[in-house]
Amino acid sequence: MQLLVFAGSTRAASFNRQLAGVAATMGRAAGAQVTYLELADFDVPLYNADLEARGTPADVLRLKQIAFEHPAWIICVPEYNASYPALLKNTLDWISSPVKADPAWTDGFKSTRGKVAGMLSASPGALGGLRSQSHLAPLLLNLHCWVAPRAYGLGHAAEAFDADGQLVAEPARRGVQAVVDQVLWAARRLQQP
Ligand code: FNR
Repeated sequence: MQLLVFAGSTRAASFNRQLAGVAATMGRAAGAQVTYLELADFDVPLYNADLEARGTPADVLRLKQIAFEHPAWIICVPEYNASYPALLKNTLDWISSPVKADPAWTDGFKSTRGKVAGMLSASPGALGGLRSQSHLAPLLLNLHCWVAPRAYGLGHAAEAFDADGQLVAEPARRGVQAVVDQVLWAARRLQQP
């Protein structure tokens, strides 16, 4: 199973990037072939249809291809103002926008349709960013993803990781593991003929 893991933050010390690292390790341990994606590695401008009309950026096409190749996704979503950050919205808007000039990508939902998407979040606050997930879920459904019902929000994230980026508390590890396991289980079931 090809599992794509990424965080909606490019901050160097991002809690969500650390959580994505934990989820990626768990995915590998569960037998998945994991791609850990850093959104900072992609040069993606703010979406603008006039800009797009002049040509979809090469890194957007790269992201579309990577997303397309992975039936299972884990997204670690920060919470900004009780919702998800613009970085995530911008990325998902670009990859769902059809490329009219390229027959391979005229179907806007080609890279997102049928993906099993699991959500994790991390926040320094007590709620663990769970409200961001409640906004992200409808967006993922609109992209024709299967959103895993199991989710986990890591609260008090500033105290949650050790120096190696591992989760300190066993309940937190179990919360992340449950999401990883469910996403892989569902993606495998959906791939069966
Ligand atoms: C936040 N933060 C935040 N946290 C939270 O739990 N609920 C919230 O509504 C908000 N709102 C919010 C708005 C804005 C504009 C910023 C910049 C931040 C705090 C946020 O969760 C914190 O900065 C995290 O550390 C961001 O995630 P990363 O970068 O650590 O992954």
